[in-house]
Amino acid sequence: MKKATTLLYIAAFCTGVAQAQPKPAVTAQQSKMNTFISQLMAKMTVDEKIGQLNLVTGGEAKTGEAVSNGVESKIAQGQVGGIFSLTTPGRVRQAQQIAVTKSRLKIPLIFGQDVIHGYKTTFPIPLALAASWDLPLIEKTARVAATEASADGINWTFSPMVDVSRDARWGRVSEGSGEDTYLGSQIAKVMVRGYQGDDLTENNTIMSCVKHFALYGAAESGRDYNTTDMSLDRMYNDYLPPYKAAVDAGAGSVMASFNDINGVPATANKWLLTDVLRKQWGFKGFVTSDYTGVSELIEHGLGDLQQVSARSLKAGMEMDMVSEGYLTTLKKSLQDGKVTIADINNACRLILEAKYKLGLFDDPYKYCSEERAKKEILTPEHLKFARDVAGQTFVLLKNGGNILPLKKSGTVAVIGPLANTKANMPGTWSVNADLSNTMSLIEGLKNVVGNKANILYSVGSNLTADATLQKNATMFGRDIPRDNRPEEDIIKEAVATAQKADVVVAALGESSEMSGESSSRTDIEVPEVQRRLLEALLKTGKPVVLVLFTGRPLAIKWESENVPAILNVWFGGTQAANAIGDVLFGDVNPSGKLAMTFPQNVGQVPLYYSHKNTGRPLAQGAWFTKFRSNYLDVSNDPLYPFGFGLSYTTFSYGDVKLSSNSLRPGQSITAKVTVTNTGKTEGKEVVQLYTRDLVGSSTRPVKELKGFQKISLKPGESKEVTFTISENDLKFYNEALKYVAEPGDFKVFIGPNSRDVKESQFTLVNK
Ligand code: BGC
Repeated sequence: MKKATTLLYIAAFCTGVAQAQPKPAVTAQQSKMNTFISQLMAKMTVDEKIGQLNLVTGGEAKTGEAVSNGVESKIAQGQVGGIFSLTTPGRVRQAQQIAVTKSRLKIPLIFGQDVIHGYKTTFPIPLALAASWDLPLIEKTARVAATEASADGINWTFSPMVDVSRDARWGRVSEGSGEDTYLGSQIAKVMVRGYQGDDLTENNTIMSCVKHFALYGAAESGRDYNTTDMSLDRMYNDYLPPYKAAVDAGAGSVMASFNDINGVPATANKWLLTDVLRKQWGFKGFVTSDYTGVSELIEHGLGDLQQVSARSLKAGMEMDMVSEGYLTTLKKSLQDGKVTIADINNACRLILEAKYKLGLFDDPYKYCSEERAKKEILTPEHLKFARDVAGQTFVLLKNGGNILPLKKSGTVAVIGPLANTKANMPGTWSVNADLSNTMSLIEGLKNVVGNKANILYSVGSNLTADATLQKNATMFGRDIPRDNRPEEDIIKEAVATAQKADVVVAALGESSEMSGESSSRTDIEVPEVQRRLLEALLKTGKPVVLVLFTGRPLAIKWESENVPAILNVWFGGTQAANAIGDVLFGDVNPSGKLAMTFPQNVGQVPLYYSHKNTGRPLAQGAWFTKFRSNYLDVSNDPLYPFGFGLSYTTFSYGDVKLSSNSLRPGQSITAKVTVTNTGKTEGKEVVQLYTRDLVGSSTRPVKELKGFQKISLKPGESKEVTFTISENDLKFYNEALKYVAEPGDFKVFIGPNSRDVKESQFTLVNK
């Protein structure tokens, strides 16, 4: 077995994908940098070089178990290369000052932070941003985040997180762009561009760190930090492309993931970090471990701290986050002959290069301006943008009887454990969120309707029936206090409130910390205690709108069958409450589309649209057929497919028209469709293009997203949407890991989601 895997890896080196990148010519700028760094390194002792590889936490945000000690004295002794989780110009300046005045060689520090979906102005969680399918908008969120973070002392962000994931149990699906390789790759590119801009030496651009390399989203059982075991077919075709897209876009750094990959954890995986990342992809930046990723190799069972540190360095992992394994053992490993001075030099050089590229050697305090921090953070423009963005990410899953949009009149009862909290709004990984401009849902709705409608409130239920679960799910001060009255009393009060209203808005779902890191769940339904509240509210006979907060696809079959309207609002950031009000009351027409499939139940997971056909596929729309690939108890269909989302208007799609039924290498064809707004409201629609390779040398997915366009249509208006398809769009990594398009028949599908499509067909011919 081991032998077979090794052979495949060897194959990976010998084929098209694996060929070493040709060496690009050295520019004058690079040669200046190389000379500067060579001169600096000539003065450095081995200890000082190892010091550059040490990344410590400043501890302002708690993002892991271990803490870094004696940081100031270590900086003075040249034992620190960078700090993360330390912010504000004052504190950053203080640490930088120690580095550039007290350490022997005065090498500046790099300052990192998890700037994941905005900074103090927080945008919706990444899974929600992906649901906007709006690349310029997403790029601008990264640009704004970089502006604010750099004004506050930060020059390096641990973003974008591009882990493809198809398992809704995994809490970290909230941090990524969902299940799709193509959408994820497009988003990866624009995020890097948004952070880094065109010029990293500007004081408002920051270096990006693409993570978690690699395959972290495929952790077994959706349990965080768990093992990944994956075929090369799936790796190269589905999971690796978004990381590559970020690298191709120029991401300055990469973070190795926590997980084991086919027997070797990413942190120590030479094949991954050197052969794939550097040799095949030509990555020129540096790799950092994740939080204590190096010392965790001891628990993985790879040896003691000295052994795992040496192995990680040799694998191609340059910076050691928090473990201090490099700091405390590499010198001994050098003496013992376990690593070479070339290994240490190479790692040190890459980190110094990053600092050089950021311009820190010219001005170590360039990100430390109180004036900029005052002027450029939480500006009215940023806040307005945050509200606009959030409104583009909500997904209307159901709108029975066109209950929505609500009228700005009468009485609205807002009920649920998530109605009266603002701390919950920004979502996971919003360590810098500033809540002074954030409202609870009740406040947001009041703000949107003014005195035109009356807003009532009742808590209705606890977040979960179990107090310990609620406590674990509301860490980091995102407290949703428990209501200790008996459940019947809480519900009774809510029902009485509902009875006074014309319509009920039920604010239910997950708290923000029920998704994110270390927040995997085996039960992905709305917690039962909230379900009981919903049942009671529905019994009142009042129209009920479910405003669903979530960081992952939830299994909401019951809600979907019983509640007339469902608006999925994720965690929408600083301006979430206003944006929810905008959409509920029709000032903004929802246009979000799911970037991840919603299953009928957790047993279907992992569930994704681009699956393989199998030898015994089930006919579309069928439930159970003996000897077919299906379940006895539930159909194979998702509850809501990838790409799905409704609008307050309706769109009709014409037939797919191809410019030709054959495509020749080097040429392209177009696929056109006419989309018409058949409703009464102006609206945006995401028109999606999928293909299927009908016969391949390897099995190919039943559908693959290859393009999308977001268009806006006035009532009655039609637009012809054109997609260009070329040979390149049809390429995949074959069994020998060659990136090829194989002649043969292809289907083309165009539609409003991955299920409800119109189709046509063409042939890729040899010549
Ligand atoms: C997470 C990373 C994060 C790092 C630093 C880790 O626990 O996995 O995503 O960037 O902490 O905060």
